[in-house]
Amino acid sequence: MSSWVRVEDIGAHEGEKVELRGWLARIRSSGKLHFMQIRDGSGIIQAVVTKQAIDPELFKSLKKLGTESSLVVRGTVTADDRSKLGFEIQADEVEIVSEAEGYPITPKEHGEGFLMDNRHLWIRQRKQHAALRIRATIMKAMQDWLDDNGFLRVDTPILTPAACEGTTTLFETEYFEEKAYLSQSGQLYNEATAAAFGKVYTFGPTFRAEKSKTRRHLMEFWMCEPEMAFCDFEMNMEIQEQFLSYVVQTVLEKRAFELDVLERDTEKLAQVKAPFPRITYDEAVERLKSKGVEFEDGNDFGATDETLLSEDFDRPIFVTHFPTAIKAFYMKPDPKNPARVLGADVLAPEGYGEIIGGGERIADLELLEQRVKEHELPVDSYQWYLDLRRYGSVPHSGFGIGLERTVAWICGLPHVRETIPFPRMLTRMYP
Ligand code: 4AD
Ligand code: MG
Repeated sequence: MSSWVRVEDIGAHEGEKVELRGWLARIRSSGKLHFMQIRDGSGIIQAVVTKQAIDPELFKSLKKLGTESSLVVRGTVTADDRSKLGFEIQADEVEIVSEAEGYPITPKEHGEGFLMDNRHLWIRQRKQHAALRIRATIMKAMQDWLDDNGFLRVDTPILTPAACEGTTTLFETEYFEEKAYLSQSGQLYNEATAAAFGKVYTFGPTFRAEKSKTRRHLMEFWMCEPEMAFCDFEMNMEIQEQFLSYVVQTVLEKRAFELDVLERDTEKLAQVKAPFPRITYDEAVERLKSKGVEFEDGNDFGATDETLLSEDFDRPIFVTHFPTAIKAFYMKPDPKNPARVLGADVLAPEGYGEIIGGGERIADLELLEQRVKEHELPVDSYQWYLDLRRYGSVPHSGFGIGLERTVAWICGLPHVRETIPFPRMLTRMYP
């Protein structure tokens, strides 16, 4: 009897007879031997099949077995210095579960469009696989840090009656007789749950109908959003730098193999430790101008501006005190200069741009009512939100970190489309 073992656990079974269940990644044959690369979802291992070991008919048919055919292989685990894994299988039983023919993704170069059309299969490929495993580790690290630091996960709704991040990027849908919008951010609800539980976070999909076809924009992306009562702008930034440093260091520790598959320069990641440098919006504008950028004061930064700003630093940076006019309605104006807000973005290093947006929220009822009107938001839909300022308002702050942009940066991937299993993009919703 051989027991079913996954490739990632194979090291604990040297010398034993085991069963593998997986798919054929590649096969190379030399007369009396087949070298089969078996992929089982947790890793890839070589199974060596000799002609004497199995039925001669089966041996012959294996040679023609198509890529991604599914199979069960039984054999003995032996040490093998030539493979990265350090082990291989001397197979003596092979069962074909389902034969695959004409698998569309081949070792030759494929165009991006073709690969995206075959995303449902492309996710089996080594690099895609590595990126998605790192994504899962990043999600877990984010949650672990928050859970261990007194935050309660409280989920926020996806169908909402009002906008959080401006009305221009809302996905509208019908809600029986009413209109509903897919959530752009869980923040407003987080502010309610923070008053109920003190420190909270939500982690889920968010939606933006952004007519932006860039390598940083998705229509559906995941956001982790912590929110804290009795927390000011400064404390908020300290939490962000601790949180992000933990996430990066955890990936370095737990996903070294996958980072290697992605050929990521991990020395750059090792530098990501708190504290992060801070520059104000006004200083950032000066920096851009001194680099020869023709920047119009008061504008938001574009992707190239963010790249230019981050290139002077070896770790993420905070850009603080943005102009009130270009930021969301809920941001607290700086008492020293109400034309600037107590909000900060985190820009990732190496040109990956903004990954976090956050800041202190307006706690004052009158000012918030005024902002809702100025932004031409439907006051009725925000009554519950205004209630939070009526009943025990406190200074509070929070932030949102975009998961896909964080994964792109940590993995060193050029485009967010490879950081999520099935990206929803401006011109693509298939598969
Ligand atoms: O800066 P944003 O719009 O901030 C908020 O939504 C706040 N309500 C969060 C909060 O304070 N709770 O978005 C936060 C982050 C961005 O920094 C970016 O990483 C990501 O969400 N993001 C996107 N990621 C991919 N595609 C898009 N279209 C994104 N829009 C924002
Ligand atoms: Mg932002």
